[in-house]
Amino acid sequence: MKINWPQEFDTNLARIETLSDNYPWHDANAYAWWLAQTYYLVRHTTRFIALTAARVPFEQNWLHYKLMEHCREESGHDALALNDIQRMGFSVDQLAPLPETTALYRAQYYALEYGLPVSHFGYSFCFEGYACRRAGQIRKAVEAAHGKGTATFLAVHAVVDQDHFAEAFQVLDKLSPAEGAEIRENLILSCYLYEAMMKRLIAEKIGPVATARPLSRSVEPIQATLL
Ligand SMILES: [Fe+2]
Repeated sequence: MKINWPQEFDTNLARIETLSDNYPWHDANAYAWWLAQTYYLVRHTTRFIALTAARVPFEQNWLHYKLMEHCREESGHDALALNDIQRMGFSVDQLAPLPETTALYRAQYYALEYGLPVSHFGYSFCFEGYACRRAGQIRKAVEAAHGKGTATFLAVHAVVDQDHFAEAFQVLDKLSPAEGAEIRENLILSCYLYEAMMKRLIAEKIGPVATARPLSRSVEPIQATLL
């Protein structure tokens, strides 16, 4: 059966978006903890894309070359998240990965090892979709509460993922039913795990119940290597 992708994204992203819309972005601890989880995920992105690109067969060279380009576009995005953490006055060393965060990236290495080459797209489309729909408004809330320069990761993704998510639908149209089924499975898993991660952040990492405390805000930012 042909998958209705717009409906699939609406259904699965809705769980993340509802939590995200109610997340206390104005709370420094809550935002710093979210940034840290983002960093722990995003530092794998170029590795995920490189591994996917390497497994794409010659018959899908259009996809292989598209992924190679995409990999370059993602370079340095982990540094953006680290910079924002520092601008907020935190060190990433204070902000450990949550179990759900670890499960998210570990599940991708399983998909990349045992799944079809395109299986990972279920994860990347989940996050590009979320960024495309929400990064702009979250950036505004963050900058209003914490000042300019604290949302560089969100600012970049509010723009680039508009294109990436639009491209996702073109890619999905060209794939086989078996490839679509694996992508759908990974999309559902990724959204469930991200929802669980957000719920734990809300339960444990907001305001006075959060364990981390801001450091000095005068830390020099790390130089991002954007290509
Ligand atoms: Fe990125």
